[in-house]
Amino acid sequence: MNQFERGRGWIIAIDGPSGAGKSTVAKEIARRLGYLYIDTGAMYRAIGLKALQKNSRLDDTQQIITIACNSKLELKFFHGRSQVWLDGMDVTEAIRAEPVSQAASIVSSISEVRKVLVRTQQELGAAGSVVMEGRDIGTKVFPNADLKIFLDATERTRAQRRFEENRRKGAKSTLDETIAEIHERDQRDSLRSDSPLTQAADAVYIDTSGKSIGQVIQEILGLVQRLPGSEKTR
Ligand code: DC
Repeated sequence: MNQFERGRGWIIAIDGPSGAGKSTVAKEIARRLGYLYIDTGAMYRAIGLKALQKNSRLDDTQQIITIACNSKLELKFFHGRSQVWLDGMDVTEAIRAEPVSQAASIVSSISEVRKVLVRTQQELGAAGSVVMEGRDIGTKVFPNADLKIFLDATERTRAQRRFEENRRKGAKSTLDETIAEIHERDQRDSLRSDSPLTQAADAVYIDTSGKSIGQVIQEILGLVQRLPGSEKTR
């Protein structure tokens, strides 16, 4: 189904490992196109946060599934910023803490949790005009997405970016600790049996290592312009 059959804009899937620049790029592409921006990692993070808040064991699969099935997740947009709400509380900042990153990665390996969140993601994006970022958007959530991008960068570059981002927020971890955390999370996300992080066969691979955010955004907007019929989109 193309955008005209759907009657709305494109579905753009942006996947890749942590620190590849997905969020910054996806948010800006959505803003430029006037599209909805959906951060699917935030949804796994919210479930991870709730599990930590409830002192649940992350290897207690049944309890984590119960949490996923009984949580109210909302992605809101307020003054141009995206917010994540969990059970009526704003958790936008809380879900970015490092323990939550690891918890999100662990809970995301549970198939039942993925099933619940993937269904929600498909509902959110079904109407089109959406930029959705994650690990499995092009392979699983929207295998028929109009444009699939796989953003990557060397592990060191990704860790350096995350380290600087954490330092700006006042976190004390060292670069070596950040490299170890990124490495552990990537391993888990890439090796899990259900929907591991992989590039879809028809995704465009972009290595962001030596590039500015602006260059990557221009590259993707160029690809959007070359989508069949895109001259009629705006
Ligand atoms: O993109 P992020 O770092 O906020 O994602 C947090 C974790 O959630 C990540 O380690 C793996 C998981 N995730 C996933 O399994 N599938 C997605 N579509 C998005 C994130």
